[in-house]
Amino acid sequence: MRSSSRFAAAALAAALFALPSAAQEDAGAEDSPGAYVFHAAGCHGCHTAKDGVALAGGRALETPFGTFFSPNITPDVEHGIGAWSLEDFRRALREGIGPDGTTYYPSFPYDNFTRMSDADIAALYGYLMAQPASGNVPPKHDLSFPFSMRSLLVVWRALYFEEGPRPDAGLDPQLARGRYLADALTHCGACHTPRTMLGGSDDDLYLAGNAQGPEGEKVPNITPDKATGIGDWSEGDLLFLLKAGMMPDGDVVSGSMAEVVRESTRHYTNEDIAALIAWMGAIPAIENKP
Ligand code: HEC
Ligand code: HEC
Repeated sequence: MRSSSRFAAAALAAALFALPSAAQEDAGAEDSPGAYVFHAAGCHGCHTAKDGVALAGGRALETPFGTFFSPNITPDVEHGIGAWSLEDFRRALREGIGPDGTTYYPSFPYDNFTRMSDADIAALYGYLMAQPASGNVPPKHDLSFPFSMRSLLVVWRALYFEEGPRPDAGLDPQLARGRYLADALTHCGACHTPRTMLGGSDDDLYLAGNAQGPEGEKVPNITPDKATGIGDWSEGDLLFLLKAGMMPDGDVVSGSMAEVVRESTRHYTNEDIAALIAWMGAIPAIENKP
């Protein structure tokens, strides 16, 4: 991994001051470390059904393996996670294992969340436990055989799951923060990195595009490759996309990326936007057209 970015942080600063972040706009009750992690990690979108109660689950997630329905993660004691201890919660995110020993499917992107710091996990737990409880019971997953067999996840875990935060390995602190945002929190790779036949993230093609993204969407290559990636985007282009959902050609971004902007990146502080953009400029360029 390179330790420098093609983007100079100094140039970005000027543009950043002109754009208020959503975090600054709706500062107040939401402005806690837990709320910040919650937004960045996109928990709300996946765990809230269309027109449903916030975090009460039931959102349908179409995948090549079938349809997942997200669970209720409100603090309802019976139907949500209200009875969970911080340790139960930490284990779900860090290890992908439920309090009753359930092994989770990676449609819950815990292969990303495993990299979250203990402090962020604890802050997120505090935030979630303070949200309104709902007794909603979401539908069961509708998966095709053999993916309907949870026991097979043992194989997936052995092949692909690497538990715990990644060492900074001498990365400059801004790049380390950018990598943390991209990989541990906003899980860009869950959509932008292709998966293998068995649903593992293909790390040799990190962020190089995915022909089979969520809802069958084609997800573009966002490495700095000039021909197939975003190598000709300026840092200002990335800034407008991540803050305002605007593409360089003036169009509004669509599909699940619109949700990522709305739920996650527009809430980033200016420092975090700069860190993520620096990271995007430092990752290897990979030629790949999904
Ligand atoms: C891409 C969609 C997605 C995102 C983003 C997501 N989840 Fe989930 N989550 C799921 C799905 C699907 C499951 C069910 C997995 C299974 O049944 O194995 C799940 C399961 C869970 C569970 C286990 C619940 C139980 O009853 O056992 C918890 C806790 C949880 N998610 C919390 C979170 C938190 C906190 C965040 C944000 C940091 C988050 N999720 C982000 C899709 C998502
Ligand atoms: C839930 C899936 C998902 C996640 C998570 C996600 N993206 Fe995207 N992204 C998409 C899709 C789909 C598109 C294509 C949108 C379109 O064509 O309008 C896209 C488009 C983009 C583009 C425009 C590229 C181009 O050539 O048009 C950039 C840049 C981008 N994403 C960066 C990111 C970054 C950085 C992250 C993490 C902070 C991220 N994305 C997380 C799904 C996702």
